[in-house]
Amino acid sequence: MTEHPKIDYFTEDRSVDAVTSRVGDEADARLAHVMNRLVHHLHAFVKDVEVSQDEWGLAIDFLNRTGQISDDNRQEFILLSDVLGVSMLVDAINNRRPGGATENTVLGPFHIDGVPESAMGANITKQGGVETCLFEGTIIDLNGAPIEGARIDVWSDNEDGYYDVQQPDIQPQHNNRGVFITGTDGRYWFEGIKPVSYPIPDDGPVGQLLAQLGRHPNRPAHMHFIISAEGYDRVTTHTFVEGDPYLQSDAVFGVKASLITGFEPVIDGSTKWRSTYDFRLHKIT
Ligand code: BEZ
Ligand code: FE
Repeated sequence: MTEHPKIDYFTEDRSVDAVTSRVGDEADARLAHVMNRLVHHLHAFVKDVEVSQDEWGLAIDFLNRTGQISDDNRQEFILLSDVLGVSMLVDAINNRRPGGATENTVLGPFHIDGVPESAMGANITKQGGVETCLFEGTIIDLNGAPIEGARIDVWSDNEDGYYDVQQPDIQPQHNNRGVFITGTDGRYWFEGIKPVSYPIPDDGPVGQLLAQLGRHPNRPAHMHFIISAEGYDRVTTHTFVEGDPYLQSDAVFGVKASLITGFEPVIDGSTKWRSTYDFRLHKIT
């Protein structure tokens, strides 16, 4: 009879060890740690729910379709991370701030770089015939002192609930996008539209999953902001429209109470609406 060397082969009981023991000494320590913990949790999940062969086939097919529908403009894996609450969890872990500092929320897939700077007060809406909204406030530090030279990068959907990049043949480039720099008083103001709630792209596998789970795909109306200033923690956030019906069921879990703000109707003004919000930045140097 052939003598076989004694090897600990893969079994259900020692599945985690069987995989993690293969990692070589030359592997990057952080990568090895992250992958070993991933295998640990993944195997625990498979054992917990006793995944059937058919279910595993469906899961692989779902991931295949998620990859196949993704391209430079369509980022289905980010959507998957968003609707599973993972994007917000990573955001929370990486943006712990002292009380009083403006809170972060999810970036989303519709931010773009390279939007030209506008003069303070400019109107970022390039489609006519819409009700405009004045956004205004001050960028301050945790002591309430104004921050000069803060960069404010803003973007929102249009009144039909689409970002310019979703409708390149319909909307003008950079519609509802702007970049502004504060002066000595730290103040900002610009005109846009009062944002509307909209569904995240739901014509792919993530949308199908939401439907199968009895979840709607909608986000409450919001204006996106990235506020950066030298020596301060950068804030990636939104302001949410008070009273929106989806505030308590945001498809991507982005809402925080401190980010909900009033949009008041303006009587006798050049805009129809006004929203005032001060951003408080935490000093890091
Ligand atoms: C957004 O707010 O633009 C967004 C965030 C997550 C998923 C889809 C859209
Ligand atoms: Fe958005």
